Amino acid sequence: MCGIVGYIGKDNATRALISGLYRLEYRGYDSAGIALLTKDNIFLKKVAGRVSELDNAIRDRVPDASIGIAHTRWATHGVPNDINAHPHTDCEKRFAVVHNGIIENYRTLKKFLEKKGHRFETDTDTEVIPHLIEEFYDNDLMSAVKKACSYFKGTYGLAIISLANPDCLVVTRMGSPLVIGKGKDEYIVASDLAAIISYTDKVIYLNDGDVAEIHPDRLRIESREFGPVAPEIERVTLSLEQIERGGYKHFMLKEIYEQPVILRDTIRGRLNYEEGIARLHGIANYIEKLRDAERIIIIACGTSWHAGLIGEYMIESLAEIPVEVEYSSEFRYRRPVLKKGTICIVVSQSGETADTLAALREAKRHGATVLGICNVVGSSIARETDAGIYIHAGPEIGVASTKAFMAQIMTFALLSLLLGRLRRLPVDEGRDIINAIRRIPDQIQSLLEELPGQIKELARTFKDHRNFLYLGRGYNFPVALEGALKLKEISYIHAEGYPAAEMKHGPIALIDKNMPVVVIAIKDAIYDKVISNIEEIRTRQGIVIAVGSEGDSQLKKNVDHIIYVPKTLDHLYPLLTILPLQLLAYYIADFRGLDVDKPRNLAKSVTVE
Ligand code: F6R
Repeated sequence: MCGIVGYIGKDNATRALISGLYRLEYRGYDSAGIALLTKDNIFLKKVAGRVSELDNAIRDRVPDASIGIAHTRWATHGVPNDINAHPHTDCEKRFAVVHNGIIENYRTLKKFLEKKGHRFETDTDTEVIPHLIEEFYDNDLMSAVKKACSYFKGTYGLAIISLANPDCLVVTRMGSPLVIGKGKDEYIVASDLAAIISYTDKVIYLNDGDVAEIHPDRLRIESREFGPVAPEIERVTLSLEQIERGGYKHFMLKEIYEQPVILRDTIRGRLNYEEGIARLHGIANYIEKLRDAERIIIIACGTSWHAGLIGEYMIESLAEIPVEVEYSSEFRYRRPVLKKGTICIVVSQSGETADTLAALREAKRHGATVLGICNVVGSSIARETDAGIYIHAGPEIGVASTKAFMAQIMTFALLSLLLGRLRRLPVDEGRDIINAIRRIPDQIQSLLEELPGQIKELARTFKDHRNFLYLGRGYNFPVALEGALKLKEISYIHAEGYPAAEMKHGPIALIDKNMPVVVIAIKDAIYDKVISNIEEIRTRQGIVIAVGSEGDSQLKKNVDHIIYVPKTLDHLYPLLTILPLQLLAYYIADFRGLDVDKPRNLAKSVTVE
């Protein structure tokens, strides 16, 4: 949510900043801006709209500069227009700041600063930052930034340049991500690695409360609380190929097609057929605690929350440990009862979701062990959990999560196998599960070859419908939720997911001859019940699009459209049934001519609450 990038070094700063912004655009895309330090002033350009609009506005019209900062915005305070776009400056335009996060006490600070004569131009919370730095500045930018930060309540990742200190860039963070890339006589800082890896693979992750003063050839880091910090340089393995579209029309489609490969990465080295068990080295020291847990609480938001629900069903049925699934935003603000024997598992693709990070900290404050299921290596959540499992989905750029969801489900399949075997499952059953897990990537590969033609047809037929209902039961109830979420977020069609049997407690009133109802009706333990639900829809003339198990010819007779998926074990079906729903959402949005990768009002990583 908001992307910030800063550059200092020998190269042309504009080039580094604009290419960085393009790579960070998935974090927010309602306005963009750049500030460059020149000999006499700070050159500033801000525009409402996409990065390309900023790029066009400054092309051939920028001064030479080797220090600068830039921003792509997802508006929180102040409508997205030119003025509210970042960077923001002080009264004399001597300091420029880009910010990701929210300064919650900005109204109080603004009043304080206005009394001191500061003049404000925007409706943003961010504008108090340069003014406060101006207020405290005494020939040392880093000290002024540190002092200003001690007044902020909220979250921030900041990059600051100053006319008075033309040889350095200062950055700091609290609750919002910030990575420093170290090149040869140059540094590039950004909200995430995507903007950095074309420059260098050497990075330094800042911790909350750290402030860094960066010169082209050196940097100094200080923790506001603990004093000087020795920079720890890490090498990253991310490649440019992984963050490019590679011939696909959209990142979302590329990421859907990557799923077989991703799942092979998720399970690689983690299955032991001999013992019929999974091995998860990241949580090796917590296995006994987990095995003996009296209760597990899974905490997440959005799609990750849906994966958590599938995890709940898997762990309860395979390992018989009671599991609850909580929205991070709810968990953090109520009084959770975390008795000894409760283990929390936070699930997050980005590892930066503000509510999940806050929930993690809240759980730790109560003394709970908190484990993570995360995608982004080195992210805040990955670093703050006691231990965790990486899902190995690679960078997910499409705003609508697809491959991360699959990899999260697979990770829960591994975890439930491990816990199940440690608690109650015989080795043979463990081996059957391993066999089924190993087949999944190939099964998805075949579906990716077979389904698109049929799904495109369905998408053409239904693209102009205004409402959809998605129904599923058991393991496939969360898949119904996820299918509905995918459709609404990228196509702006209203869609609701429901447990199929709940339909008659309300949503059935919506059903008429214009209502498409997507029903997941695979041959699992509750198949017959779902068939009855389909009858209830048909009786009311609803249009049924069913996802069924291959070979189920009976089902075909009872529905309007059918999409088959291959057979697997009940608890692994979500890995197959979600695929047609991802494709359906994608093609409907594409046929509607929408920007699939950058849906309106959304941003990839929600770093504000
Ligand atoms: C939907 C989607 C969001 C995220 C949610 C949590 O397609 O991507 O609902 O799942 O914002 O994000 P993470 O998993 O990064 O914590």
